Amino acid sequence: MNKRAIRESFDRAAASYDSVAGLQRQVCELLDAVLPAPTLASSVLDAGCGTGYGLRLLAARWPAARLVAADFARGMLKNTEGDRICADIEALPLPANTFDLYWSSLSIQWCDTQRVIAEAARVLAPGGVLAVSSLGAGTLTELHSAFAGVDQHRHVLEFSPEKAIAEACAATGLRNVTLETRSIRRFHPDLKALLRALKSLGANQVGANRRPGLFGRQIWQAVETRYESLREADGLPATYEVILCTASKRTL
Ligand SMILES: C[S@@+](CC[C@H](N)C(=O)[O-])C[C@H]1O[C@@H](n2cnc3c(N)ncnc32)[C@H](O)[C@@H]1O
Repeated sequence: MNKRAIRESFDRAAASYDSVAGLQRQVCELLDAVLPAPTLASSVLDAGCGTGYGLRLLAARWPAARLVAADFARGMLKNTEGDRICADIEALPLPANTFDLYWSSLSIQWCDTQRVIAEAARVLAPGGVLAVSSLGAGTLTELHSAFAGVDQHRHVLEFSPEKAIAEACAATGLRNVTLETRSIRRFHPDLKALLRALKSLGANQVGANRRPGLFGRQIWQAVETRYESLREADGLPATYEVILCTASKRTL
């Protein structure tokens, strides 16, 4: 993954993010609902907090907690609540054994799964709870298949399967791991609107083997025709395979 390109893309998208982040808000609410609430959370980290929707849910749940907002895109942090840290969540400039709750919604799919979960386990206090959501391999399959065969480049991020998160949790010694996957479909008026929404979210980086430059007219039309064949009454479907994971760190 080109981390710098991902960070710059989210930084550029900070102002438009909230206008297109319906799925992201829905996923924060799902993650909040599966959270095994620790009776007392005095310190909470939102890793990859974006514009802070998750932080607001967490502040409502634990009004007295110290909230820490971490994101590597400075623009995203502008209006967030809590102590702000502009940092890479794969290498947090934070001490070990600190947080009662490590929360991260729809951010770790941009990271190396092993590294980001190991870092989560490091900063969690003994007995602390991990709650993360991510996107699985069935995400944006319609877009992926509309592009398949049209050229040799990637147009959709390579999402890790649920298994990768389970393995990363096991490797770092996290316990009581629960994992579930929910399929959520959103609808867009047309392909341009879907691609525009991904760009406004900052989620248009796809890692290595990205196509340089724009498509020719013929390619664009072929992709559009393939995607149009999937049209339903509500518009063009886009599937998101949402992974919800909770776990806890061993007490001392
Ligand atoms: C799709 S947004 C989700 C934001 C927020 N959690 C929400 O639910 O609205 C992904 C966020 O993760 C951040 N992010 C991605 N990779 C990161 C990394 N390695 N370190 C820190 N932040 C990262 C991006 O800057 C972006 O703000």
